Amino acid sequence: MIEVKDKIFKPYLGQPTIEKRVKELGREISKDYRGKDPIIIGVLNGAYIFLSDLSKAIDIPAEISFIKISSYEGDSSTGKVKRLIGLDVELKNRHVLLVEDIVDTGLSMINLLSQVNEKEPASVKTVTLLYKPDALRHNVALDYIGFQIPNKFVVGYGLDYDGFGRNIPEIYQLST
Ligand code: IMP
Repeated sequence: MIEVKDKIFKPYLGQPTIEKRVKELGREISKDYRGKDPIIIGVLNGAYIFLSDLSKAIDIPAEISFIKISSYEGDSSTGKVKRLIGLDVELKNRHVLLVEDIVDTGLSMINLLSQVNEKEPASVKTVTLLYKPDALRHNVALDYIGFQIPNKFVVGYGLDYDGFGRNIPEIYQLST
């Protein structure tokens, strides 16, 4: 058990489990995108550790960039997406992969997809390490999913609770 701010979390996904799945995703993406020189866009802050490990598991030429948005306060969605750092790369006719840490209601991913689609890419696909199917409220296509998880709050491996817990190397689940 660990404590992050005022809440207690229990171990959920350990390092070997995460590492194995991230490597599998990297291999799959490398196979699907060979010859396409994709541009991979990580969603800050949460995806920074996942994208770091995933990008090292991708063995084809790829550009890496970031976008920063925010929709969560504490442990729940505000229902609104704030754009904090926009896209600074040309996406026209490029193959884009959007990389999220977690898809919860799907609101962030819907918003990101519309921002990317405005720039007329050749294709857009989505990657998420974690997916909570029971929390989904928006119809969003998820192309690469690391793990489907129950609708419980998680921290670690980039995911935070009120700003804390991102640097925990494994994923922990709210205990209760
Ligand atoms: P959505 O827009 O509701 O799909 O939420 C996506 C964003 O909310 C993620 O990128 C995270 O920043 C945050 N989020 C959703 N669920 C969790 C969680 O269980 N732990 C930490 N952050 C979460």
